[in-house]
Amino acid sequence: MPGTFSVGLLGHGTVGSAFATLLQQRADSIVPITGLRPQVSGVLTRSRGSFDEILAGSDLIVELIGGVEPARDYVLRAMRAGRHVVSANKLLLSQHGEELWACAREHGVQLRFEAAVAGVVPVIRVLQESLAAAHVERIHGIVNGTTNYILTEMARGGLSYAEALEQAQQLGYAEADPSDDVSGRDAAAKMAILARLAFDTPVHLDQVRYEGIEQLTPDDIAYAQQLGLGLKLIGTAERVDGGLSVRVHPAFLYGGHPLASVHGPFNAVTVESGAITEITMSGPGAGGPQTASAVLGDVISAMIPPATTAETSQRLEIVNDVDSAFYLHMEVADRPGVLAQVAELLGMQGASIKSVVQRGLGDNASLVMVLHPLRESRFYAAVRLIGQLDFMRSAPRAIRVIEEEFT
Ligand SMILES: NC(=O)c1ccc[n+]([C@@H]2O[C@H](COP(=O)([O-])OP(=O)(O)OC[C@H]3O[C@@H](n4cnc5c(N)ncnc54)[C@H](OP(=O)(O)O)[C@@H]3O)[C@@H](O)[C@H]2O)c1
Repeated sequence: MPGTFSVGLLGHGTVGSAFATLLQQRADSIVPITGLRPQVSGVLTRSRGSFDEILAGSDLIVELIGGVEPARDYVLRAMRAGRHVVSANKLLLSQHGEELWACAREHGVQLRFEAAVAGVVPVIRVLQESLAAAHVERIHGIVNGTTNYILTEMARGGLSYAEALEQAQQLGYAEADPSDDVSGRDAAAKMAILARLAFDTPVHLDQVRYEGIEQLTPDDIAYAQQLGLGLKLIGTAERVDGGLSVRVHPAFLYGGHPLASVHGPFNAVTVESGAITEITMSGPGAGGPQTASAVLGDVISAMIPPATTAETSQRLEIVNDVDSAFYLHMEVADRPGVLAQVAELLGMQGASIKSVVQRGLGDNASLVMVLHPLRESRFYAAVRLIGQLDFMRSAPRAIRVIEEEFT
């Protein structure tokens, strides 16, 4: 029978309640990793629970209240009592981070806060661990999902700022009072935390310059699109003249920039450094279950000594023949019936054509198509037969197509 690891939960709102549910669902699978079964030992909200009782009965405190006070007081008291703390509170860390990290060091406890920046994207862990020795030159981030959703909808549907905001509110991507998000302040708090970690220097929210998206019009976005540019709210932290600049403002990006393709409520962070060139991490930036997953990851990390690999508990079959969409390029003789014969061979294997383009004449004729997903073995069976047709001028070329867009 494994021992119990008691988690005191402060806050039971969007993230807190999702965390409590997730912990219960995943508790059994955490036992082989940590040797202990985590459970919520007490919950504090405005109307229930006593902080002192929860603290006394817990091995670790999860703070999901938000805001500065009383969250700051509770986190400090928990660490002084020797408890590890996990928090998702960017406002608290961007204003009182130095005091909190000093307290954690003094009392030999962990203060983990992966969910405070970019939701489930593991950027804090990467900066603190994987890139700990990198000399970071610059960070760019789309770290606010609400504004990225609004800008995406303005670009896609030509909506005005007010219309896109209303849509975001209806879908739950924006709060009833969206001012922290649309003014850039929420992104500024996250950039303060990222800059602190990446550049190893204190950064307070008050030192981050920020502009929001309230003044942007669909014209700005349409104009940018004609030039192949996308408009994003970008957080930047970079070395400048031996110092550090941390700022948030709308910015145009060329299509080739890794952040240009980050749409909807997704977040992404790009880290640049001489040694690593550039790394981009992206994923859902908010949401109860998503944020709760990052919080639970921190709880598990706090429960185990670092760098262990648990024994596997299952033996999953390794699958080789999977479904995939395909791009198929064929150089063919320009004569009637070519497309029909190719389509027939594909159809016999259950392939259906999503789009097709015929280009060139005579010796330069090409047939290019994209196929809906089908089992790879069936696709390649069709390709082998197509390759034997007498009008083929060279072997067909096939490339897999990843169709998911995640937005
Ligand atoms: N929502 C997201 O997608 C998201 C994403 C990333 C990070 N975060 C961060 O996660 C934290 C929690 O956010 P949330 O969206 O879950 O907030 P929320 O839905 O407003 O929930 C806050 C919870 O804290 C409790 N609380 C508030 N003031 C309190 C007080 N003085 N004493 C005791 N309990 C108090 C509330 O109690 P009542 O139930 O009694 O009101 C509620 O249960 C924040 O720091 C936020 O920035 C949220």
